[in-house]
Amino acid sequence: MLHLSLQNKKAIVGGSTQGIGLAVAQILAEMGAEITLIARNEEKLKEIIEILPVSYNQKHNFIVADYQFPDELEKKTKEFIQKNQIENWDILVNNTGGPAGGALLDASTNTLQNAHTQHLICNQILAQIFVPLMIKSGKGRIINIISTSVKEPLENLGVSNSTRWAVAAWAKTLATELASLNITVNNILPGATKTARIDVILNNKAKKENTSVEEAKIEMEKAIPMQRFATAKEIANGVAFLASDLADYITGISLAIDGGRTKSM
Ligand SMILES: NC(=O)c1ccc[n+]([C@@H]2O[C@H](COP(=O)([O-])OP(=O)(O)OC[C@H]3O[C@@H](n4cnc5c(N)ncnc54)[C@H](OP(=O)(O)O)[C@@H]3O)[C@@H](O)[C@H]2O)c1
Repeated sequence: MLHLSLQNKKAIVGGSTQGIGLAVAQILAEMGAEITLIARNEEKLKEIIEILPVSYNQKHNFIVADYQFPDELEKKTKEFIQKNQIENWDILVNNTGGPAGGALLDASTNTLQNAHTQHLICNQILAQIFVPLMIKSGKGRIINIISTSVKEPLENLGVSNSTRWAVAAWAKTLATELASLNITVNNILPGATKTARIDVILNNKAKKENTSVEEAKIEMEKAIPMQRFATAKEIANGVAFLASDLADYITGISLAIDGGRTKSM
């Protein structure tokens, strides 16, 4: 029998007030998980808590934290665990806002360092907090939202390309270290996805190529065999699968959800 329920499971989802993170929080809650959201905007977090599915009488929570400040993220997450007397955990979805676009040589070392902090260092902090709690559950899932640039660097996203490889190498190493503990570590690599992030990318592309945003979009869509951008829900579906019992024996993979855009195998 298919076992897709996440009833009685606890999931923490980064960057979950909009876009891919929000779609992930929604589908995991639909499957029965109790969700803890993380983002910077407290008002938005409070709004999202109210609209997440509660069919299994779950109680959702949130942590207000900025991934630019890892010490703050660590302190607040530990406080949250202590305050709620949490003794075990099931699912960690590492996700946050994407790094700034532009040519790599134009990026300041600060910009590179910030992207590294936000994507790699914060993942490490959350893994160090949640893995011991997953061990107590006897099972765990770490799912990282990265980008197809793990497989093929993307034009005009130099800082992102550089950071994503570091995160993918981090994840692959962790997958090996945690496999015998029944904790899987996998990556989702979204292609162009309809969120606020893609609007920024399209605006940058239009400016760089001295064309309209609509033209830039048409050109990007042409490069996708499926000829369209993904919805955030389509990306979240991949997370739902990897979080479910159906993916018990899958670890250390990078799953591209990109309508066929990535050419490498
Ligand atoms: N959309 C795409 O086409 C695409 C393609 C490939 C990869 N990706 C990657 O997938 C990830 C999610 O993208 P998305 O399109 O869903 O982005 P998005 O729509 O911009 O959403 C970003 C989310 O992260 C939160 N966030 C941003 N900066 C943060 C910070 N410093 N600390 C804590 N939370 C922060 C935002 O909430 P607050 O502002 O309230 O903090 C928001 O909830 C990014 O890494 C992105 O680069 C996206």
